[in-house]
Amino acid sequence: MSALPGWKLAGWIVLVFGTVGCGGEDLGPEVPACDTALEVTWSNWGEGFMLTHCSGCHAATNTDRHGAPEGVFFDTEEEVLENAASIVRVVLESQTMPPAGGIVADDLVLLDAWLHCWTD
Ligand code: HEC
Repeated sequence: MSALPGWKLAGWIVLVFGTVGCGGEDLGPEVPACDTALEVTWSNWGEGFMLTHCSGCHAATNTDRHGAPEGVFFDTEEEVLENAASIVRVVLESQTMPPAGGIVADDLVLLDAWLHCWTD
């Protein structure tokens, strides 16, 4: 009687290496979602979103900024990307911008996809 039949040993090796192969790679939480995220860009969505929800206070040309800080402008893609980390923080995480709220869930998903998956 063999102590450890060959098929059992083989099964063990597959189990161990199989587990390492999947769980061992640190892909981070965003990567699998980005594989299936809609392609969101400044021109197909971002510009319109910023104009609708943010530019009322944050446009560089505003004379009445409703207290929005000088220098926090979202008129161009570059300005948005420079501020991407802050935008993620205040719109997606703390949800303190826009001050009146009102961003629908679908737009939050698109904003998340745009800033996490489609920008460098
Ligand atoms: C009704 C006016 C108004 C609208 C609309 C608005 N903001 Fe603001 N925003 C402010 C004011 C006032 C501040 C400064 C006070 C504060 O930080 O809460 C500010 C600050 C910020 C800051 C800097 C916060 C920090 O702590 O660095 C960011 C980033 C920002 N807003 C992003 C946005 C984005 C993105 C939108 C659109 C989704 C938006 N805001 C819409 C008024 C507005």
